[in-house]
Amino acid sequence: MAEVVLRDVCKRYGSYNAVDNVNLTIRDKEFLVLVGPSGCGKSTTLRMIAGLEDISDGTIAIGDETVNVLPPRDRDIAMVFQNYALYQHMTVYDNLAFGLRNRKVPEDTIKTEIDRAVDILGLRDLLKRKPRELSGGQQQRVALGRCIVRNAKVFLFDEPLSNLDAKLRAHMRLELKRLHRRVETTAVYVTHDQVEAMTLGDRVVVMNNSRIEQVGTPWEIYSRPRTRFVASFIGSPAMNFLDGKVKRNGSGYNIHAPGGAFHVSDESARGLVGQDGRGVTIGLRPEHIRLYESRADNALHGRVELTEQLGAEQLVEVEVEGARIMVSRVEAERELKPGTPVYLTVEPGQLRYFDPVTEQALA
Ligand SMILES: Nc1ncnc2c1ncn2[C@@H]1O[C@H](COP(=O)(O)OP(=O)(O)O)[C@@H](O)[C@H]1O
Ligand SMILES: [Mg+2]
Repeated sequence: MAEVVLRDVCKRYGSYNAVDNVNLTIRDKEFLVLVGPSGCGKSTTLRMIAGLEDISDGTIAIGDETVNVLPPRDRDIAMVFQNYALYQHMTVYDNLAFGLRNRKVPEDTIKTEIDRAVDILGLRDLLKRKPRELSGGQQQRVALGRCIVRNAKVFLFDEPLSNLDAKLRAHMRLELKRLHRRVETTAVYVTHDQVEAMTLGDRVVVMNNSRIEQVGTPWEIYSRPRTRFVASFIGSPAMNFLDGKVKRNGSGYNIHAPGGAFHVSDESARGLVGQDGRGVTIGLRPEHIRLYESRADNALHGRVELTEQLGAEQLVEVEVEGARIMVSRVEAERELKPGTPVYLTVEPGQLRYFDPVTEQALA
């Protein structure tokens, strides 16, 4: 069992809280992703788990053991960084063997372990090469290989794909996923890239300003963001936010927004109980909006501002009374000149509401 448990973990640099009271259980064999903007405390959290950084407060346990003061080499973890940190003067084989030789593991055991890793990662033809004779993706696979041969209890990754170009990053994402399926090990993966977080994570932890904003499966995070920050950070293009006002109307509400109003039933707007007459931040995902050129009911009226052709679809930016709304998944072949009047509708259940002051979801 290699559960990792963080209780009330804090990291202070002087008076600055880089990590503020983090509570988190990473389950055995789970692939958990920490995601958030640059500087929010992801790497610091990971480095505290690794033992590369002292913790200012709280406890960290790996398996059943509290590791607060245990040095990194005794924590049974393996770590991959953004810069692969391979030894340039050593062959791939020797790079893979290095950590094990340091631990005085017998050479034949090392060979068995490397054989296994090499098959998983497709490195067999590269064993005699030096790192400079490898592509970025191949170097990254060697770095992963060093993790695998270690047979560690926990894998820690800090932005391991950030140095790769977009195509290779997408490819390595799949390889990582395949790897985790074959080598079932608890993994904590840090990234600022929400696509990586959503595609790789069994669960995703969204961090902001040194704190955890939300923990959940990718679907939970996407469909039920608990804060405006999470709603805006996860999803691409980002969720649109509009200033709205709630008015009770029969067995439901009218949600007044720039360019019109949506009528929603009580059923599809449980979060609005008690909000009658109040201001609300309305969240609309670009992919949930339908765009019509003919008049539609329950719609916001605006004009096309810009279009971006993506081939399979187009993105359309619509101006509604001074506010801008991004609409995605518009059929690529539709011709929408700037200035064209349009009507935007959304399934009532897809609307999200946030308190304009606290920025917490109303749910
Ligand atoms: N050794 C340090 N001394 C002072 N501040 C630090 C140190 N390391 C990190 N920080 C600060 O802590 C915050 C979190 O850093 P980090 O965990 O690296 O963020 P990220 O989420 O980008 O990985 C940042 O504001 C960073 O400047
Ligand atoms: Mg970082």
